[in-house]
Amino acid sequence: MAATAPQAAPFFLGNVTRHVEGRRFFSRHTLRSPARIAARDAVQRYVREPRAAGSKLLPALLANYLGGVAGYTSVLFLVAIEHHAGELEMFPDPGPDETPDQYYTRQFRATRNFVRCPKIDNFLERILTEEVAFENRPDFRIFYGGLDTHIEHHMFPDLPPNRQREIAQAVRAIAARHGLSYHETLLLESIRMFLKAVTGLSTPLGEREFGRPLRLLAQPISLARRLAFGVAYKSLPDAPYLDKPGFHNVRVKVLSSNSVANGQARWVRLQKPRGWDDVRWDAGAFVSVRVEVGDEALVRQYSLVHDSDGSDAMEICIKRVAGGRVSNRLNDTLRAGKYVTLVGVPASTGGLAMTTVPRKSLFIAGGVGIIPIFSLIRKIAREATDSDAVLLYFNRDDRSIIFERELREIADRSGVRVHYFTDKPSDRRDITQGQLSQILIKRYVRDASDRETYMCAPPAMIDLAERDLRGVGLDPAQFHTESFTPPNLTRPADDGRRYTVRFRRSDRSVEIDGATTLLEAAGRAGIRVPTGCERDLCRACVTPKLSGTTQLEAAGAPLDRITVCNSLACADIELDL
Ligand SMILES: Cc1cc2nc3c(=O)[nH]c(=O)nc-3n(C[C@H](O)[C@H](O)[C@H](O)COP(=O)(O)OP(=O)(O)OC[C@H]3O[C@@H](n4cnc5c(N)ncnc54)[C@H](O)[C@@H]3O)c2cc1C
Ligand code: FES
Repeated sequence: MAATAPQAAPFFLGNVTRHVEGRRFFSRHTLRSPARIAARDAVQRYVREPRAAGSKLLPALLANYLGGVAGYTSVLFLVAIEHHAGELEMFPDPGPDETPDQYYTRQFRATRNFVRCPKIDNFLERILTEEVAFENRPDFRIFYGGLDTHIEHHMFPDLPPNRQREIAQAVRAIAARHGLSYHETLLLESIRMFLKAVTGLSTPLGEREFGRPLRLLAQPISLARRLAFGVAYKSLPDAPYLDKPGFHNVRVKVLSSNSVANGQARWVRLQKPRGWDDVRWDAGAFVSVRVEVGDEALVRQYSLVHDSDGSDAMEICIKRVAGGRVSNRLNDTLRAGKYVTLVGVPASTGGLAMTTVPRKSLFIAGGVGIIPIFSLIRKIAREATDSDAVLLYFNRDDRSIIFERELREIADRSGVRVHYFTDKPSDRRDITQGQLSQILIKRYVRDASDRETYMCAPPAMIDLAERDLRGVGLDPAQFHTESFTPPNLTRPADDGRRYTVRFRRSDRSVEIDGATTLLEAAGRAGIRVPTGCERDLCRACVTPKLSGTTQLEAAGAPLDRITVCNSLACADIELDL
């Protein structure tokens, strides 16, 4: 690794970034920029400069190579020290909702400054002054590249090293004011602490032997067992950084994958990621799945087939959509042993929230809308077998029915009544050709007005059902719905007002009306924001807002982090983009 450091380092950093963003390593998006940097460096280091050295081409070539290896290796080593020596903490990816306070606290707790070593400085000075006659002795801290003030760098990443040093006392005072440790040790002491921490992580020592490792030699069986465990240990292909659980852009393993509904859908069991034992979700919740297609990261939502009490794994069912970019790819590629990226922990639109099991309920599912409905029914079957529940399940034809066997088992066990309907005629006697209507509801569910009703279907079908159910006397408050087509954003009519959206980091501004989303404004300014659903479901686009007001805040508290995909300006806005 060290021998290839100048060319390998950009790829190393690219790999860190793509871990954070949950991308694949072998993709154009991940590799393009490191490849460009490594190639530019190689041309400069191994072609241009040696050629300019004329007759000293070979020594220049060798010196450039060794200088590069030494420089990059020492930078990587110093950065490792600054994040792993002593009692420094490591944190899982905090995700987009981390507040600025939490962010800055994390930087203090995870970073160390070192105090430079006079012996090393004097050594460097001796070598340099032999080569160069300095009029003024330079500040030898330049050789640490600003890494000696790493805490300040994390607090103010845009400051150059000399400015970082100027503010170091003020930053130390801030840490003291907030009761945070300002980690700073002598360089050699930091190296010792780092080696101790790394050795502790990589040798088979337990707490009992810590500080007295030779004791282990007196326990050969224990030593052999630990070594065998170490040899057999296989890290995940995308091992979470030093074994910390992740909650955002997490790669999860496919445990099993089965084709259902005559190949029209795939039922996939996903392993709950490590550290997710306490993550809970209600029936009707969904996960956001991220897939890379070329340079684009596409995020789609998939409902979980059960609530968190229902299974140790996470199960989703993905129906093929004609021309769909993600559903077909997942159907074609998700197989046992593969991995898929989840954007975050399960969430819910709240549309189908069923906190307590109702005494009498009616479920209506249109096609793939059965998936969240199925998880509600499973909950009823598990928690209240005496509950009176009816399911009306509509499909295009009898080959599209999902979960049929499982629904039959639930019906046998818990008494949930299931009625199947199809658009096309079917030879089966348990399937009726028909579409949702008031007549159909009255025939199959005479007491529909008494029932808490849950429906998941395309929006047009939900609109019809709402009308029909109102016709049979159902109180609208008892009608709970969700559609897989995210709701359209309500955009106000143009009242002539214009707002300036400023993007502070990019130093760009655009003017927009009150009907243009901030995501669209960023697009106009040529700024790329990671997105997923573009309808306030996945939180992929959460962005810090520095000033201004959006329509999201009109009725509630001011927000300092907003989903730009559904935010409209009500005043001039400044974003941290
Ligand atoms: C809360 C929620 C839960 C969900 N749960 C599930 C679930 O459990 N199971 C499930 O299967 N799905 C579920 N979905 C739907 C899922 O998220 C995807 O929308 C679905 O899989 C289609 O994605 P896709 O990428 O394959 O299709 P897309 O590529 O998004 O295309 C969707 C449709 O638009 C058409 N289209 C795409 N681009 C264009 C274009 N440029 N011009 C014209 N037409 C175009 C396509 O032909 C296709 O018909 C859920 C959605 C939500 C919001
Ligand atoms: S893109 Fe999903 S919340 Fe904005």
